[in-house]
Amino acid sequence: MNSETIQRVVVTGSSRLRGDFSLPGDKSISHRSALFAALGEGPSEIRNYSTAQDCQSTLDCLEALGVEIKRSPSLVTVEGVGLEGLRESEVMLDAGNSGSTIRMLSGILAGQPFTTRITGDESIQRRPMKRVIDPLTLMGAGIEAREGNFAPLSISGGRLRAIDYTPPVASAQVKSCVLLAGLFADGETIVREKMPTRNHTEVMLRECGAAFREEQTAEGMALAVRGRESLRALGSYTVAGDLSSAAFFIGAALIVPNSEIRLRHIGINPSRLALIEVLQQMGGDVEIVDARLEHGEPVADLIARSSSLRGDHDLGGAVIANLIDEIPILTVISTQLEGTLTIRDARELRVKESDRIKSIVENLRRIGVELEEYEDGLRLCGHQRLRGGRVNSRGDHRIAMAFAVGGLIAEEETTIEGAEAASVSLPEFYQLLASMGATLRYES
Ligand code: S3P
Repeated sequence: MNSETIQRVVVTGSSRLRGDFSLPGDKSISHRSALFAALGEGPSEIRNYSTAQDCQSTLDCLEALGVEIKRSPSLVTVEGVGLEGLRESEVMLDAGNSGSTIRMLSGILAGQPFTTRITGDESIQRRPMKRVIDPLTLMGAGIEAREGNFAPLSISGGRLRAIDYTPPVASAQVKSCVLLAGLFADGETIVREKMPTRNHTEVMLRECGAAFREEQTAEGMALAVRGRESLRALGSYTVAGDLSSAAFFIGAALIVPNSEIRLRHIGINPSRLALIEVLQQMGGDVEIVDARLEHGEPVADLIARSSSLRGDHDLGGAVIANLIDEIPILTVISTQLEGTLTIRDARELRVKESDRIKSIVENLRRIGVELEEYEDGLRLCGHQRLRGGRVNSRGDHRIAMAFAVGGLIAEEETTIEGAEAASVSLPEFYQLLASMGATLRYES
């Protein structure tokens, strides 16, 4: 059953998991591949494009802007229209649940000689957009937003001016938004990043032959793109499997006894790898094998086996941006740690698809785990028994999937309400978990 059509999943404790499979393409890279393919000159063929609802939202928006796209399960074909080829949309664009879609596309829309309205679901309408409105306004775009911060946005674009910008938050979406707008600006746009975030946009700018350079400075990275220079088509591109989705299966293999899984062709970009490094520091048996480079992105197979996890782990500062999406599953895994997990400097979690600190803390308490909540993180002593019970995804895909994994080691059944949210990033999630030997029951 596809997870879009279910509402509740009941998970039972598991005694052994086995699996050897690949995963749909990385969500972050898929969004960018579609955006760059659309702005390139000529056709591009994208294989293993993410099946996430979020990435379909990006394709829907591009189609509304006049880009011709063909979608089949194995191939997405995008007819690039070049930097000046997008057309005014007749409808308000809908980014669905996708922060990456609305924030990155805003950068492109700011460079268009027409007005576009863009919104998304309830969650998107609660998430802060001032972080992209501010730099785009400095570049010369006219943007209207509810209370100056929330979607729907109305973006009146045109020829932009280059800026030299230091984002106030560590955010790859903001960085990418400004760099994409920079493609439509006179001169060289510079983004200064004090804390590193995922660098897929930078990798793809190079792949498409943009006039892009980066420089390490005393304050961090300076990323510079010269505008109004045409982009090559992305061409024939295969998206590596999604490490953030892999994280749930790796977590499951580590905490369920007698388990071993191999995940093939997964993206292991260093700007995304902190979860694996933290798990290895905990004593987690996670192996990276057959590493190679594809389209400028590192890719490998990952092997994970049941492990005893140990140590006191205090995570804060620069590492947080590198594992921001993995904190829900890391917390669930850490309930089994012989030691403690402390997370600080993660206030950004409060403005994700849900308030993730609250979603993690409330749901863990519901299944019998004791932990402390901080404004910017949480703290938990490991080695706790999970009782099971009823949790609620709060419409957040990563919360649904993290707690399904938790259910695998609970004493009683764990019911995940709002389980269908998993489709936002991995519609195949529950089938894959079941294929590893997990016992799941679907209820609608
Ligand atoms: C993403 C950046 C991160 C991440 C999100 C995907 C991206 O968001 O949480 O899931 O693809 O650039 P922020 O830039 O808001 O931190």
